[in-house]
Amino acid sequence: QVDETYIMVKPDGVQRGLVGEIISRFEKKGFKLTALKLFQCPKELAEEHYKDLKAKPFFPGLIDYITSGPVVCMAWEGVGVVASARKLIGSTNPLNAEPGTIRGDLAVQTGRLGPSYYPDRNVVHGSDSPENGKREIGGTAYALCLVM
Ligand code: CMP
Repeated sequence: QVDETYIMVKPDGVQRGLVGEIISRFEKKGFKLTALKLFQCPKELAEEHYKDLKAKPFFPGLIDYITSGPVVCMAWEGVGVVASARKLIGSTNPLNAEPGTIRGDLAVQTGRLGPSYYPDRNVVHGSDSPENGKREIGGTAYALCLVM
């Protein structure tokens, strides 16, 4: 089934010049880029995008991170693209991401390791379900005028 996923290169990925590399990985996999925009995300939109995580202790830090610089927002289309993009991206925590994945290859270690250490920067976001893909593209991306 053809579905759509929302991929966002986060501020660290943009600042480190990883946009081309990340786009290239999705292109090489055969997915179709249907929309793209460089965007400074306002706080309200970041909070809406991550509303499922509102109760988490890391939520304020996550919003600060996402709004700390421009992000690249994209919609990608293809058969099974949501699940496939998650595999290309790798585990949410870059410490667990396999080599060969975007996070496994490109997310760098910042800060000091500890028992509950979680790297605060993981380069890229991908929708976690086709429903959230629709919601994010129809919500965040609609606000960005991504979808004509
Ligand atoms: P993302 O794929 O954008 O989806 C939710 C984001 O929340 C995730 O990537 C991380 O950036 C962040 N996140 C998830 N879990 C944690 C955690 N335990 N500590 C800090 N940030 C987290």
